[in-house]
Amino acid sequence: MRAMFHTVAPRYNFITRAFSYGMDGRWKRIGVTRAHLPERPKVLDLASGTGDFSFLVHRHYPGSRSIAVDLTERMLQLARARGLPHAVCADAGILPFADSSFDCVFIGYGLRNFPNLQQAISEIRRVTRPGGMLVSLDFFLPANLLLRRLYLAYLYAQGVFWGFVLHGQATSLHLHSRLAQILRFD
Ligand SMILES: C[S@@+](CC[C@H](N)C(=O)[O-])C[C@H]1O[C@@H](n2cnc3c(N)ncnc32)[C@H](O)[C@@H]1O
Repeated sequence: MRAMFHTVAPRYNFITRAFSYGMDGRWKRIGVTRAHLPERPKVLDLASGTGDFSFLVHRHYPGSRSIAVDLTERMLQLARARGLPHAVCADAGILPFADSSFDCVFIGYGLRNFPNLQQAISEIRRVTRPGGMLVSLDFFLPANLLLRRLYLAYLYAQGVFWGFVLHGQATSLHLHSRLAQILRFD
């Protein structure tokens, strides 16, 4: 998992915008505005990638303090290069924070990547204050079988297409179709 995100990190934001036809930013903004946080919230941006949620929270709550956490150091380097001061390399299953540290935990397309989901949820619960909130943005499979097949075929084709466009290599084809595969969340 870490090796794959290390490889795609420099193109990750572009791929996400392209896969979502540019809607990704709007979905994240909706997540932040609907969270109704306190005036100066303390927020954990978990599986942060390059820190989109941290930047949006800061824009809506200038007095906020956000900590970005990701397993992939290269993603965090890009987050720091974008101007994010607090970026920590850690596993969602063992979070290096005290109990009740955060008002809210944001996760963008992250839950599906955690090898032990229960352990990660239990850590999220531990570091969130009582009455705090978890906001998770993710994709789900259509319930209808035909739509589901079409959707999975479409995701696979997207992966192959972007593998060719961005790299033109067989290894990258595998990488991007694997990326499309993990978007499935089944
Ligand atoms: C699909 S990206 C999402 C990035 C960002 N949240 C966004 O919305 O664009 C998933 C991220 O989860 C990270 N990740 C995967 N497993 C993780 C784990 N066990 N703990 C923390 N981060 C993890 C990856 O390194 C990657 O940056």
